[in-house]
Amino acid sequence: MSKDTLTITDNRTGRSYEIPVTHDTIQAMDLRQIKVNQDDFGLMTYDPGFTNTASTKSTITYIDGDKGILRYRGYPIEQLAEHSNFVEVAYLTLFGELPTQEQYNAWEYEIRHHTFVHENIKQLMEAFRYDAHPMSMFISTVAALSTYYPEARNIQDPKSRMKQIVRLIAKVPTISAFSYRHSRGLPYVYPNNDLGYTENFLYMLDKMGQTDYEVKSVLARALDVLFILHVDHEQNCGTATMRVIGSSHADPYASMAGAAAALFGPLHGGANEAVLRMLVEIGDVKNVPEFIKGVKNRERLLMGFGHRVYKNYDPRAKIIKRIADEVFETTGRNPMLDIALELERIALEDEFFVQRNLYPNVDFYSGIIYQAMGFPVKMFPVLFAIPRTVGWLAQWQELLGDSAQKIARPRQIYLGADTRDYLPMANR
Ligand code: SDX
Repeated sequence: MSKDTLTITDNRTGRSYEIPVTHDTIQAMDLRQIKVNQDDFGLMTYDPGFTNTASTKSTITYIDGDKGILRYRGYPIEQLAEHSNFVEVAYLTLFGELPTQEQYNAWEYEIRHHTFVHENIKQLMEAFRYDAHPMSMFISTVAALSTYYPEARNIQDPKSRMKQIVRLIAKVPTISAFSYRHSRGLPYVYPNNDLGYTENFLYMLDKMGQTDYEVKSVLARALDVLFILHVDHEQNCGTATMRVIGSSHADPYASMAGAAAALFGPLHGGANEAVLRMLVEIGDVKNVPEFIKGVKNRERLLMGFGHRVYKNYDPRAKIIKRIADEVFETTGRNPMLDIALELERIALEDEFFVQRNLYPNVDFYSGIIYQAMGFPVKMFPVLFAIPRTVGWLAQWQELLGDSAQKIARPRQIYLGADTRDYLPMANR
């Protein structure tokens, strides 16, 4: 009769060990009993980039990389994109269930009425150069928010945690719009609490002197769906960072500033900006074959392609491609789309990409839509960070509620010098 265990024989000693298997996983600490000598440290696993290491148990997001499945709290991303809205998906991600109408109204009211930031934030932003990258401003300003809410350091208090969560979700559009307006030398537009989440964001970005300014509902809805697609993605680099910093019991503002910094990297959420720069560099469909040759010669990466988990088409990329057509009806077609479609066509046929399971990911098409909506390329990572705020905070909550978690402190394999005595300068 089969047992849910692994039998490991250590050929160095001939000893065998029986290790329990739960959820197709073994506890790394069960390996420490495997030693040659009693005073050995015991076996560890070596896993740079954590390619095969689970850091937590979670009930928030499920991804099947082979089948291209993404679900938030069990609901398929395709259905949420079709039927829900960002504020409702934020509620679902944080609380685990779809809200009743009463719960939704209360939640939406809370978010809508915490959009303002302390006036000092404007002076803080003024300290940045005119050409400061908006994502750097976002990271710095989120960290600075902790100076306005010192009670946030009381991370064991559920009420305080929820207050900071509402503040962060409500204020990141304001901070993002302010950083955009700063980079354009434009006056800040204060939040309009009569507007919905993405509508208000577009309002703060775009309104000038008009007294009757109206946000285009097609663009507000397209952005709302794009935000839904970016809410969470299990233990990605930025979220893992949120959890590592949060594991030291730092406040949510400091933890999220670190998560946003990780997201800014071009291999992660900074890829949407890198994709657009790549498309602009290619410039014309006729240059695509030459560019692909450079990728296959390892001279550069095809940004927006590949994924640690998806070895199939990223389901979010499929949905984003569909949104593109709706947006272009309002904004006009972005010529960069033709280059992107040709890149995708060639890559999906070429053995180099096929054998490495390289498909378009969430960042491949999102930037084309953002550019068509009028966002400068530098704003793209910020547009990723706004919705991912919800995922980071939901995962942070889960971390603090998980009694199995402790401060993150990985081990290492030391291969450096053995002990040696200090040498006076004259003897070196
Ligand atoms: C996001 O984790 C998440 O969930 C992230 C995210 C989220 O929602 O949080 O989904 C958001 O970050 C999406 C990914 C955005 N990044 C990019 O588009 C940048 C380009 N992609 C690559 O940097 C890469 O694909 C990663 C970083 C996304 C994944 O890298 P892995 O899993 O570490 O894979 P790897 O680097 O080991 O690559 C395996 C092979 C290598 O070739 P060999 O050495 O085996 O011959 O594939 C090659 C790589 O060279 N490869 C690529 C490539 N991606 C991988 N070659 C060309 N172009 C690429 N984009």
